[in-house]
Amino acid sequence: MSKTLTVVDHPLVQHKLSLMREKGTPTAVFRQLLREITQLLAYEITRDLPMTRKPIETPMEEMEAPVLAGKKLALVSILRAGNGMLDGVLELIPLARVGFVGLYRDEATLKPVQYYFKVPEDLSDRLVIVVDPMLATGNSSAAAVDLLKKAGAGNIRFLCLLAAPEGIKRMHEAHPDVPIVTAAVDRGLNAKGYILPGLGDAGDRMFGTK
Ligand code: URA
Repeated sequence: MSKTLTVVDHPLVQHKLSLMREKGTPTAVFRQLLREITQLLAYEITRDLPMTRKPIETPMEEMEAPVLAGKKLALVSILRAGNGMLDGVLELIPLARVGFVGLYRDEATLKPVQYYFKVPEDLSDRLVIVVDPMLATGNSSAAAVDLLKKAGAGNIRFLCLLAAPEGIKRMHEAHPDVPIVTAAVDRGLNAKGYILPGLGDAGDRMFGTK
């Protein structure tokens, strides 16, 4: 994948995203919509996976059938909101390995600090798809990708639901090699780093914590 930003403007994605943005959408519906949109976005982010052919027999005859070339995949969720995107991708790619990165913001330095990091061992052999619904300031996303590169990952893609221009710029500066796929690019951030018009706190909305 060479393009560094892909906005998936498919009507189904845009319709479901509008339902997610509405503040009255219940938690269970929000989660289901996120799962569905994630699958449509995953379709786009995996569009150029390498293929090979293998001989199979249909009930009619033999053929050389196209199959995935077996490139190994890892999904990495940025806690906690990334977990809302995991199951959707895993349904499509059940053999993917899964990792988790947890970061919090140090209130003194405002820098992201790692509190959890557990990823598959052989990251250097895998295509790594990082999932986090909201690319806001981009600080935690850029820090998560830093950690994954230090752990050996060399082929990373970033999958989100909504992106702010600030977050895209931050990621492009820090990691120009990492393509971003999103359903929309919103206007910008408010003073607290929330995306506008956005959809609020994705973690709270999917887990019902507020
Ligand atoms: N994280 C969220 O959950 N929402 C935002 O708008 C920004 C970051």
